[in-house]
Amino acid sequence: MNKTLKAEMIIDKDYKISEIDPRIYGSFIEHLGRAVYGGLYEPTHPTADEDGFRQDVIEAVKELQVPIVRYPGGNMVSAYNWEDGVGPKEERPHRLELAWRTIETNQIGTNEFANWINKVGADAMLAVNLGTRGIDAARNLLEYCNHPSGSYWSDLRRQHGYEKPHNIKTWCLGNEMDGPWQIGGKTAEEYGRLAFETAKAMKTVDPSIELVSCGSSNSNMPTFPEWERTTLEHTYEYADYISLHQYYGNHANDTSNYLAKSLDMNEFINTVIATCDYIKGKKRSKKEIHLSFDEWNVWYHSTPHDKTIEPWQVAPPQLEDVYNFEDALLVGCMLNTMLYHSNRVKIACMAQLVNVIAPIMTENGGGLWKQTIFYPYYYTSVYGRGTALRPVIYSPKYDSIEFTDVPYLDASVVFNENKEELVLFGINRHLTENMEIVCDVRGFEDYTICEHVVLEHDDPKATNTLQQEQVKPHKNGVSQLNDGYLNIKYSNMSWNMIRLQKKSDK
Ligand code: AHR
Repeated sequence: MNKTLKAEMIIDKDYKISEIDPRIYGSFIEHLGRAVYGGLYEPTHPTADEDGFRQDVIEAVKELQVPIVRYPGGNMVSAYNWEDGVGPKEERPHRLELAWRTIETNQIGTNEFANWINKVGADAMLAVNLGTRGIDAARNLLEYCNHPSGSYWSDLRRQHGYEKPHNIKTWCLGNEMDGPWQIGGKTAEEYGRLAFETAKAMKTVDPSIELVSCGSSNSNMPTFPEWERTTLEHTYEYADYISLHQYYGNHANDTSNYLAKSLDMNEFINTVIATCDYIKGKKRSKKEIHLSFDEWNVWYHSTPHDKTIEPWQVAPPQLEDVYNFEDALLVGCMLNTMLYHSNRVKIACMAQLVNVIAPIMTENGGGLWKQTIFYPYYYTSVYGRGTALRPVIYSPKYDSIEFTDVPYLDASVVFNENKEELVLFGINRHLTENMEIVCDVRGFEDYTICEHVVLEHDDPKATNTLQQEQVKPHKNGVSQLNDGYLNIKYSNMSWNMIRLQKKSDK
């Protein structure tokens, strides 16, 4: 007979981490593979609207309640001429896209993206090219997007049919500029100077914008965290955020170790916070830099296939990871990690949104399907709004090849005061044993359980396809509330959401 793990939690309204910035449920669309062409935009698709956007995709994005979408890259932005993507479509050039070695037709550009973002009810987060270009292209693009009228670039936008400014508030100062693969990559000194001068010019054009200074491409970069220290010395005055990017994969095919990788994400965030605060201290500044975790996900399944793709095609299927059940569990843990740091992580973008390492997949001319990772992202985005609470957690632990003291129970808690709703997100990392948790919620008088949603599967490698959704949530989770104590059961290898609401007086 299976053993059962025992864990305990204490949840109290007074143990607050922070108000959650909804933008931590953001996402990312790059001109890469079939993200834009075949994902967002497919004028010949049966569901295409008057602008050529797939309405099935719009509906799925709305379902996720994505608050902000980063665009247009990614590596692609570092050699991108934004001017190619505006004006009459028939005059737009076809270019060699150097990051992914494809042909970019420029049928979608800044204005079309701004149009699409309105349709899905999100905000845009634009990146400027600090690889092959710099201050001038960045300030012109900002003037084009945000200045009302009466100047060369704002009037050009109006001439292009966009009378009102797009008012884009969040801007990334380049992308992964520390990466040797980046077109126009820079040393920390070179980037710091360029980003500072670009930021100065951009905030002169529009002081209301917020800027993201480029952090390291991932925590394994040899220059991490020295890159953060050097670049922030330059950009601290103008930057509001520093970026973090991280992707994980189960390369060693060791599920227990894989599910612990969110501990690495936690350490990455801690180190970036420490580096930001070191610069704050050094500069005697009162300003606190926030974190924009603007690329995060699992990415490794598609890598061998991508090496075989012929270059210079239009929108080939690139980075089309098919996610399995264990990936969904890790994504749940990563979302919990972000909530745990919601006092400093104010923006985060699941990379990416459609077709390219994405929760939503489409078939050209055909249907749409939800990957396994769609579900933890969906539930956390929709119900993880309000205040993040810091639960006290007593959980048995394990060691894996890379990590020690990994708690079997990974949890986060969100209290939505307006809705009088308490939401627990939890993963049982144990591969074979169920877990019983006694959770003290005595501070939440008159609350009752409304649902316990579970994502579980016997096979960690189970995937979803257009034809068959093997991994999908059910609402038959086992938990009971008695005298202020929640008695919870999490089955082995499961992601869970328990939602409690105050009983209405009626
Ligand atoms: O999201 C895919 C790629 O990953 C992005 O273009 C780049 O920024 C990162 O390396």
